[in-house]
Amino acid sequence: MKKMIVILLLSSTYIFASGTQRHFNPGDGERLIKEIDILKKGRRISAELMTHLGSALKESIKKNGFVKSVEVCSLKVLPMTEKIRKKYKLKSIKRISTKTRNINNAPDKLDQIAIDYLKKEKKSSYLQQQVKSGKFFYRFYRSIGIKDTCLNCHGTRKDMKIMTRSKIAKIYPNDKALDYKIGDFRGVIRLEF
Ligand code: HEC
Repeated sequence: MKKMIVILLLSSTYIFASGTQRHFNPGDGERLIKEIDILKKGRRISAELMTHLGSALKESIKKNGFVKSVEVCSLKVLPMTEKIRKKYKLKSIKRISTKTRNINNAPDKLDQIAIDYLKKEKKSSYLQQQVKSGKFFYRFYRSIGIKDTCLNCHGTRKDMKIMTRSKIAKIYPNDKALDYKIGDFRGVIRLEF
């Protein structure tokens, strides 16, 4: 379990990675238990969201085809994430990528640290801690990979129908979320606790 956890402590008290810990202070044990709990919750909630999004996408593609399903990845995502956010009383849920289709999904500085880590280490999750006025805040990140269905809207020209490609280009003139291959790192789901 410990091996899976990487907690970045911006207060620079300690960095906890691959089961190595340094400078343990009073109260850290309790916090560690809380952090492991957040990590578990983060994995569960992000898996739930991915399942929901995946099945909504599949269902829409089957029913309406790819061109009409372009909106599923945009219009339906927000209400779906909002529902899950409320259910688990999270501060926020967001999909983030460095190669964005929608610029609102671009990373901030802390997101970038998480993305660099997940990509480099090829890990599936990451917990980041921030300390503001003595209070602890957490961001859980889960990496998103490209599957074959994704290529219909995020693949190369060869993978995509002309109609889908042109519809996407019309709505997103600055689209960078193209030319992916199966297995590529697409971005992250970020949960704020
Ligand atoms: C039917 C077309 C379609 C399919 C299939 C599709 N997407 Fe998307 N995707 C979009 C659109 C459109 C957006 C822009 C959403 C918005 O405006 O927020 C998007 C945005 C995203 C984003 C947010 C980051 C960004 O670039 O704005 C992620 C992450 C993402 N898609 C991942 C995936 C993954 C993973 C799959 C496969 C499981 C997938 N998508 C399948 C159309 C699609």
